Amino acid sequence: MRVYVLNGPNLGRLGTRQVDVYGVTSYADLVTGCEETGRELGLDVVVRQTDAEHEMLGWLHRAADEEAAVVLNPAAWSHYSIAVRDACAMLRGPLVEVHISNIHAREEFRHHSVVSAVATGVICGLGVDGYRLALHHLAQRASPIRHSE
Ligand code: DQA
Repeated sequence: MRVYVLNGPNLGRLGTRQVDVYGVTSYADLVTGCEETGRELGLDVVVRQTDAEHEMLGWLHRAADEEAAVVLNPAAWSHYSIAVRDACAMLRGPLVEVHISNIHAREEFRHHSVVSAVATGVICGLGVDGYRLALHHLAQRASPIRHSE
């Protein structure tokens, strides 16, 4: 099963960006971790990051066309991009929204995500481990017996 792990603006700076909030794992390490988890779970994981909204929309359209599963950290777009939400609403596979930080414990403008209402589920506040948990969920969902623990 193909899973796109898509990351929005500024997430390419992980490891140096506000380490008190986002931790010390670099974006490169996040990519490696997702790929390794994908291999363990038998998922075909593709990890991408962009600071350009139109590029993200193109990736989401492609995931919709392929009926692929998506793990999405929409980053700041979570809080205002109706275009990203609309593209997410077109997905035909499951969508797990991930936030590294607990957006509900931060500034008020981060408390609401316009994406959450069209997501299958949301993981937030568990650090980069949220990505691994999202992939485990998708594997379990696709093949409940093989991956049950
Ligand atoms: C984030 C939270 C957002 O509020 C923020 O704009 C981000 C990252 C997170 O992973 O915690 O860029 O999505």
